[in-house]
Amino acid sequence: MEQNRCALVTGASRGIGRETARALVRVGYKVIGTCRNPVKVKPEDEIDGVEYLPLELMSEKSIDALLDRLGRVDVLVNNAGSSQMGPVEEVSIEKMRQLYQLSFFGHVRLIQGIIPKMREQKQGIIINVTSLASHLPVPFSSIYASAKSAMEVMGNGLRNELAPLGIRVVTVAPSFIQTDIYQEKILEAGSVYASAMNNAKAIRDARIKNGSDPAVVAAKIMKIIECKNPKPFYTAGQGAMLMALLSKLLPAGLVEKNIRKQFRIENSLQKKTVI
Ligand SMILES: NC(=O)c1ccc[n+]([C@@H]2O[C@H](COP(=O)([O-])OP(=O)(O)OC[C@H]3O[C@@H](n4cnc5c(N)ncnc54)[C@H](OP(=O)(O)O)[C@@H]3O)[C@@H](O)[C@H]2O)c1
Repeated sequence: MEQNRCALVTGASRGIGRETARALVRVGYKVIGTCRNPVKVKPEDEIDGVEYLPLELMSEKSIDALLDRLGRVDVLVNNAGSSQMGPVEEVSIEKMRQLYQLSFFGHVRLIQGIIPKMREQKQGIIINVTSLASHLPVPFSSIYASAKSAMEVMGNGLRNELAPLGIRVVTVAPSFIQTDIYQEKILEAGSVYASAMNNAKAIRDARIKNGSDPAVVAAKIMKIIECKNPKPFYTAGQGAMLMALLSKLLPAGLVEKNIRKQFRIENSLQKKTVI
């Protein structure tokens, strides 16, 4: 690898981002890893060779401050994020806006600031970590799934804007990965959805607890970086590729029925719903 290649990984304090930063250091990249407060990263969680810089994706000021400190960026991994669970009927528009700021607008603002560097370099790769949820949404995580889907579709369009300039754009959609990802729970008191959502949440939490190692996603990201002509979309994690394929091949009604069954929501909702 050429010397002085630089990678920027957002959300590198733990989980998928930390494993990705570790993998990039291993192959010789100069790695900048971000999190909200680098001072709080425990010494045992720090990776030798990663420079930790602050980034709060909820704040344009913080994004711009990071951009001001950056030099060359060859690889941008838009990974930072957190999750949300709540019935669409009960999630306030303000809460939706907050999730979109974190999962979409923040990343897009960062991309806008990095593109000029990559244009000047005449090369670069932007990898957006989304979620398999954008193809198979977990019930009551609809807003989260929609924000991830927005990133994927934006990335598909951006790919063609940047391809002539030598810049590649790729989406990586993990399935359930064993991390401590924060999930905000939103549920009104006495909600008709309470039992169904609690069932779905318990199953989602168990799947994350038994999910794939975050290093699996990092390994997929490394493969993509090394690939000269990467595809627009990759899955990562156990069963992810098969699930994505089945979601496209099987009749929609069958897929949806199976999701309701898996997350045990149908019966609990029917019993509680009062019309
Ligand atoms: N775990 C899964 O099952 C799974 C599945 C599909 C997709 N994903 C996606 O994978 C990505 C990484 O998730 P993970 O599971 O590795 O979660 P994680 O272990 O909780 O890591 C999340 C990272 O994002 C950073 N972050 C959180 N909120 C932020 C904010 N407002 N501004 C800037 N940085 C922020 C965190 O840093 P600080 O808290 O230190 O600031 C942390 O480094 C996310 O985009 C997630 O949606 C995860």
